[in-house]
Amino acid sequence: MSLLEVKNLSFGYSRATPFEIQALKDVSFNIDEGELVSVIGHTGSGKSTLMQMLNALLTPEQGEVLLEGKNIHESKTSAYEARFRVGLCFQYPEYQLFCETCAEDIAFGPKNMGLPPDEIRERVKQAARFVGLDEALLDHSPFDLSGGQKRRCAIAGVMAMRPKILILDEPTAGLDPAGRSAVLDMILHYRQETGATVIIVTHSMEIAAAVSDRILVLNQGALVFDSTPAEIFSHYEALVSMGLNVPSFTKIIYALQKRGLHVQNAYTAQAAADAICAMLHAEETSP
Ligand SMILES: Nc1ncnc2c1ncn2[C@@H]1O[C@H](COP(=O)(O)OP(=O)(O)OP(=O)(O)O)[C@@H](O)[C@H]1O
Ligand SMILES: [Mg+2]
Repeated sequence: MSLLEVKNLSFGYSRATPFEIQALKDVSFNIDEGELVSVIGHTGSGKSTLMQMLNALLTPEQGEVLLEGKNIHESKTSAYEARFRVGLCFQYPEYQLFCETCAEDIAFGPKNMGLPPDEIRERVKQAARFVGLDEALLDHSPFDLSGGQKRRCAIAGVMAMRPKILILDEPTAGLDPAGRSAVLDMILHYRQETGATVIIVTHSMEIAAAVSDRILVLNQGALVFDSTPAEIFSHYEALVSMGLNVPSFTKIIYALQKRGLHVQNAYTAQAAADAICAMLHAEETSP
């Protein structure tokens, strides 16, 4: 049994109105404990809708979400519990900070879980460490923080619930390159320390290529690919036709292949260098 089993999910917004939209169409996949899965797809492909269904903020019209074998939408209690067990960090989460201090903001989820004050304090400190937020900042107002620090504070609030699955919807959106790699490093560190299962929604093919065990590709509400980065990025033309990009290294390899060179597919700098070296070596040694 997988940690998360998503079976035949379908969902639409604004039913029976002229604005009706089929946001998800018969989506099924599994996620195993400890996996890091990226979800990619053109804008409006249903990524955020799907994520909100995984922690029971939205209820599917059809299909089910099983967490450790149990349907999270089965009852009000199971849906409520799913909010803590599947921690969802929204797009631009810093807009949802509202407490007087960062510590209170990070403590918001654990408090709602009914945890004792000592445990909450311990969790707040640990989560702040995970996201690299200086302890001295915990007593400050979140509005005194820089944009990047606000983002970290908001992510810490979800980590402090110690969810089985951490979902980050566009965690690096709007950050500069240094901020992006800092947030990514922090997610990878959190995962290494806790062994948590992580789902990252991203528009960046470079991020999906660099960090994922597996990638899910959504197109117009349907799941069109569910595979390893190597397999996903070998579908260059299909991805482009869905309005998606591929990592720059994949593009270079593809351009070489188009010129008739026998070079293996690659999606990271290292793999592309290896593939090009292997091609050159094969040419040198061929009679
Ligand atoms: N609350 C809502 N009411 C009506 N339609 C909505 C609502 N939220 C999303 N939609 C529509 O549902 C579809 C899927 O939206 P969703 O936000 O899940 O896509 P997304 O893949 O997360 O997009 P993005 O990459 O822009 O974040 C889109 O057509 C969107 O306009
Ligand atoms: Mg979205």
